[in-house]
Amino acid sequence: MYGLINKAVEGLVRSKFGDAAWDKIRTRAGLPDEPFISMEMYTDKSTYDLVGAASAELGAPAEAILEEFGMYWVKYTGEAGYSELMKAAGKTLPEFLRNLDQMHTRVKLSFPQLNPPSFSVSDETPSSLVLHYYSARPGLAPLVVGLLRGLGDRFSVDVTTKTERVEGARPHDRFHVGWKTRVGVPA
Ligand code: HEM
Repeated sequence: MYGLINKAVEGLVRSKFGDAAWDKIRTRAGLPDEPFISMEMYTDKSTYDLVGAASAELGAPAEAILEEFGMYWVKYTGEAGYSELMKAAGKTLPEFLRNLDQMHTRVKLSFPQLNPPSFSVSDETPSSLVLHYYSARPGLAPLVVGLLRGLGDRFSVDVTTKTERVEGARPHDRFHVGWKTRVGVPA
């Protein structure tokens, strides 16, 4: 994956746990003490190793690290250089979720080697939908849960998710997503 991702993992760890924690995690993951370059490709293994090392150093399951990172990613891209792309993707949670593939297609204009996941939406009601998540990479459903929670914060709604693995011809993860406007926040 592009260095942008590892760089954001580093940003999350440094801001939440400090520089010493980051040094331990980076060392445990076997990565050199060099800055990540956003536009350069790194192996997926380096990212999985970082998550594994963070899990071991911080004493939290890998799923919790991925979820935390998903929440952080929405904030990070909303603020740092990608805010226009995020804004263009939608003004409400369901609109945004319907536009995820289009958003990554736009990201691909700047990151030509991007190998993004694919999402589709079904079973929409005024307060729920089903999000289908297709990826070539295993084990990232908890990341999507965190992304959905982060998007909930972005749109000031409380989000509930229920994850299901779908096997068969096109294996994927299915998220039953519900949302409620936060108390005190105008709809
Ligand atoms: C403008 C904001 C965003 C940018 C710049 C961006 C960019 C990226 C990049 C660079 C990757 C790594 C893939 C690669 O390098 O081949 C990635 C992966 C991913 N993105 Fe985005 N993304 C954005 C927003 C989102 C949002 C809001 C979601 C919410 C669902 C999302 C879901 C994912 C997931 C789940 C992956 C993991 C890879 C996989 O599943 O195979 N992204 N994205």
